[in-house]
Amino acid sequence: MTDLFDQTTEPAWLLTEHGYDPLRQSSRETRQTVSNGFLGVRGAAALTRGSGAAAPGRTFIAGLFDTMPGGSSPSVRVPGPDWLRVRLTCGGEPVAHDPGAGSDHKMVLDMRHGQVSTACRHPTADGLQLDLKSLRIVSLKQRRIGFQALQIKVEGGATELTLEANFEGLDLGFCEETQEQNLGVWRTRASRKTLAIASRAWLTVDGRTVDAEALGPFHWRWTVKALEGHLIDFRRIVAVVRDDEIVSTARASREARVELAAACARGPETLVTEHIATWDERWSSSDVVIEGDPAAQQALRFALYHLNSAANPDDGTVSIGARALTGDDYQGHTFWDTEIFLLPFYTFTWPEAARALLMYRFHGLGAARAKATSMGWSGALYAWESADSGEETTPAQWIGPDRRVVTILTGTLEQHVSADIAYAVWQYWLATGDVDFLCDAGAEILLETGRFWASRVSIEPDRRGHIRNVIGPDEYHEGVDDNAYTNAMARWNIRHALETAALLAKRWPMVWARLSARLAITDEALATWEDVASSLATGLDAESQLFAQFDGYLDLEDIDLAAYAGRSVPMDVVLGRDRIAQSQVLKQADVVALLALLPETVSPEILEANFAYYEPRCGHGSSLSRAMHGVVAARLGQAEKALTYLRQSSDIDLADTHVAIAGGIHIAAQGGVWMIAILGLAGLSLREDGLALEPRLPAAWHSLAFPVQWQGRQLRVLIDPVNSRLEARLEAGSPMGLWVEGHRHVLEPGPPLCIALSASPHDCEMAG
Ligand code: BGC
Repeated sequence: MTDLFDQTTEPAWLLTEHGYDPLRQSSRETRQTVSNGFLGVRGAAALTRGSGAAAPGRTFIAGLFDTMPGGSSPSVRVPGPDWLRVRLTCGGEPVAHDPGAGSDHKMVLDMRHGQVSTACRHPTADGLQLDLKSLRIVSLKQRRIGFQALQIKVEGGATELTLEANFEGLDLGFCEETQEQNLGVWRTRASRKTLAIASRAWLTVDGRTVDAEALGPFHWRWTVKALEGHLIDFRRIVAVVRDDEIVSTARASREARVELAAACARGPETLVTEHIATWDERWSSSDVVIEGDPAAQQALRFALYHLNSAANPDDGTVSIGARALTGDDYQGHTFWDTEIFLLPFYTFTWPEAARALLMYRFHGLGAARAKATSMGWSGALYAWESADSGEETTPAQWIGPDRRVVTILTGTLEQHVSADIAYAVWQYWLATGDVDFLCDAGAEILLETGRFWASRVSIEPDRRGHIRNVIGPDEYHEGVDDNAYTNAMARWNIRHALETAALLAKRWPMVWARLSARLAITDEALATWEDVASSLATGLDAESQLFAQFDGYLDLEDIDLAAYAGRSVPMDVVLGRDRIAQSQVLKQADVVALLALLPETVSPEILEANFAYYEPRCGHGSSLSRAMHGVVAARLGQAEKALTYLRQSSDIDLADTHVAIAGGIHIAAQGGVWMIAILGLAGLSLREDGLALEPRLPAAWHSLAFPVQWQGRQLRVLIDPVNSRLEARLEAGSPMGLWVEGHRHVLEPGPPLCIALSASPHDCEMAG
């Protein structure tokens, strides 16, 4: 029989935290979150002293938002209850993992199995030793199921143990509907969403079930006389259901009971085995193996663990928040982070998850149209921050680092998100060839965002199209004109809306006839869109080959960031908001983001000149910034620099040197780790007729291997710079085109295709 507490033995899959460090506890809890895209449970200690303990085992539930009329943000995530609470006393003394508790606590995140376990030996007041083990998962196979196990072994004599299990935080943000011993049903106060939880908990001593005292809803106590060597096993299963229908709560409570009964019938061992098997599938489709650089390997594993934990292919009504389901920051709101920093990973390794995330944007089209209309434009302007409905949820104000109240303008001015979403839709279409998605949802997003930009651009007396008063990715400069990133993405968006219209008209004329009629898009209107796109100001100076990040940017104060090396706070704190706005210092990749996303629109000279200009002016005040720099550095052949960016992106969450990450994993930075490795260093890109690879690996990497999907095919790529060769194997699907270093090959099922690389990918660094 499976030992529930078994874990992977290979260290590369484990993230181990020892002891209890109050300074780092909240960061550890973030890192050690288990999540399945529906439920996320932070890595709190397995045992607590009592209610109000410092380390809440917080649970986040995707899509569980409430509206807050008059609040600082119109929509906030409602945290679910902590269902892992256990209080243990031994001979009347509490046993807890906290500072001074005298135990050798070890918490291990087993990334391969998607589980967190703890182990410690705990001396008791009456001179005995308790050997304690715990385990928690949220099932990747049945996303509504959470499972917890605790095992206690008494050594050195006999004692009386009491174990109390309860839920905490049931009163946070809910109206109670039903509270029974094993079932609770709540509603969010304003949005009236239903949350139903059914739970079963039991305790055995050497396999014999012990009766529980019921102390109240979800609250049980067991008292046992434990003898030397006895094995005391506590188990708890929960089934969590969110229902957005506001009519009745009956469905949710019924589903919670049924899910729980099914999970209990399968039993803990099967639940855990199925969960691990599902994780195995995910790893097989996404694992990146790096030989020669254990730190980079760990960075990738950690990033992939959280990326695979964040998405739910079965729910197209939710997206991934900026901190996924690992923390409170940003209230669970979704930004462009998802489309630009996460979708590449999902599109290439988990298209079902990518599709669900894009469907969330499709469901948000109504709100995006309303936002555009309310601001006087046509088409769809997506919310800068959104929750469940797609409405704008950016808070109106916040407290700046200087303690002053600052008005937040991103909710009205940061509009590039609409083009970013269209971009992700098109990449998904190219990568998957998912005709149903394109015809039923994707085309409408592309057309409505294209229509927005066509109305947003004003053609002025200089006969150029301008987009005035926006915020680009660099949020240190607000209300600027002709942000190069926004304009380039807007043009790209309009042109791809036109391409979509032409594609539909040619290949699926009936679909096009219906869609264009429903959206009232005429041929005459489309004809004007191309004029708008080609008139758009780009900000590119023909002589210097530089893009002006926005109109007037190049005249601003040029501050040497090198003089501030070693600072521990962002540059806007160092310089203050007013001065930074008058300087060329950037919060994050802006022109560099444009180079990363639209490389085919710029020449190698432009790429090089702009990277050289903008990189030293960037303060990386956003966790997203390094991803773009790493991708561009790699494409320029600067593999060592790209690797530095990869490490820095990873360290935001993985290293303890950064600010506390109590508020959650910076999931976009983790998406960036994958982007730098695969889009940058392996040089993967999409072509209409297949995939292309341009490898350039850092010297330490002996090899890089990864899976990737393209239009229903599953491929495995191995880059072997030591022997200057690339191996590609088509594991499923029909022959396809594979371009390596600019040469076309046909990849067929069967033995791998071995391609000699023109030079060792290591050499290009030396040459560059
Ligand atoms: C960044 C945005 C990002 C947001 C959420 C901000 O600090 O400037 O680009 O979308 O954080 O991650």
